[in-house]
Amino acid sequence: MSKILVTGGTGYIGSHTVVELQRAGYTPVIVDNLVNSNVGVLAQIEKITGVRPEFHDFDLCDEAAVKRFVADNADITGVIHFAAYKAVGESVQQPLKYYHNNFFSLINLLNAYRERPIDFVFSSSCTVYGQPDELPVTESAPVKKAESPYGNTKQIAEEILSETAAASNNYNIISLRYFNPVGAHESALIGELPLGVPQNLVPFITQSAIGKRGPITVFGDDYDTPDGSAVRDYIHVVDLAKAHVAAIRLLEKGNPNGSYDVFNIGTGRGNSVLEVIKAFEETTGVKLNYQIGPRRSGDVEQVWGDVSKSTRELGWKAELDIAEMMRSAWNWEQYLEDHPLS
Ligand code: NAD
Ligand code: WQD
Repeated sequence: MSKILVTGGTGYIGSHTVVELQRAGYTPVIVDNLVNSNVGVLAQIEKITGVRPEFHDFDLCDEAAVKRFVADNADITGVIHFAAYKAVGESVQQPLKYYHNNFFSLINLLNAYRERPIDFVFSSSCTVYGQPDELPVTESAPVKKAESPYGNTKQIAEEILSETAAASNNYNIISLRYFNPVGAHESALIGELPLGVPQNLVPFITQSAIGKRGPITVFGDDYDTPDGSAVRDYIHVVDLAKAHVAAIRLLEKGNPNGSYDVFNIGTGRGNSVLEVIKAFEETTGVKLNYQIGPRRSGDVEQVWGDVSKSTRELGWKAELDIAEMMRSAWNWEQYLEDHPLS
């Protein structure tokens, strides 16, 4: 079966995608420099699927290393490029760190595949839409000026990819615009491993519930939404992982839309912060401590995706609901308490 390079494959979304690729009969090969992940993830994947994925530890910003890897692995037919820095707040403090890592890794990969055909799937984000004028937001909505250097790396990367695909017949590219990935594998053997204080809602909720953090602060209850708290389209990471398998399949078959395409990957539904808190409490039976605080700067009020294009053309649809997202995130947090990854 085809070999697929998964950059960032020991990370949160990458590790779940490696599992789904193996399940679908692909042979994923991971490249990751472990800057934001743990090598113990490889053994966890093996516990789930029975197969330890091939792993290469190097920095994708190292142009010579990328070239060497691509030359030595001529049987790789597809790339799923997850590797990037992703902390929005840190990107405002250290923009060059983000521009350097997220662009050099992407450009080195694209350059290394200049001479041969490659299927390429890129991790983009609904952050490219900012606050959309119309909801649910479709792929044809305008891209708004990014609020952060991180968001800007996704917008510019999409432009780099579309221009690269237009300039050469060798690249067939899909950008997947993820909404808010949450949850963990049902086995509780892999999940998100936030470093330090989690900036994202669901890891903060699970860490607060287990006693690692204090009360949750709801960032704003005065938005123009049904309960006043901000609304997002939360997507289970396993559904998201399966969308990558669907994208690789479409590229293998030949995408009738051409050599560059974009898909929204969400559930098509929005949930408010207060609804997420309630869903966690109802699903797990654990009471949360929370308080209302001011809005967080840079946050949009509400966003959820129109996923009809993905359903129609990728043949993919999210199947897991908010209760399953909360249950799996909580099981993972509890697992980690007893089994710190090493
Ligand atoms: P993650 O940090 O868990 O995974 C990224 C992986 O890439 C890590 O294992 C890290 O060690 C590796 N990496 C980073 N720079 C590297 C380099 N130069 N060379 C080799 N390896 C490198 O993040 P994630 O949540 O799994 O996100 C994966 C991708 O999806 C990222 O591109 C992110 O921007 C994008 N994305 C994430 C979210 C989200 O909320 N998690 C939402 C939208 C888009
Ligand atoms: C969700 C909601 C917060 C923490 C970010 C990136 C985006 C994408 C996904 C990568 C918001 C609220 C949060 C807390 C809260 N990542 N919240 N208390 O901001 O929608 O998206 O991750 O591409 O680019 O910006 O996700 O999980 O941080 O927040 O009230 O302690 O929860 O204000 O409304 P966000 P999030």
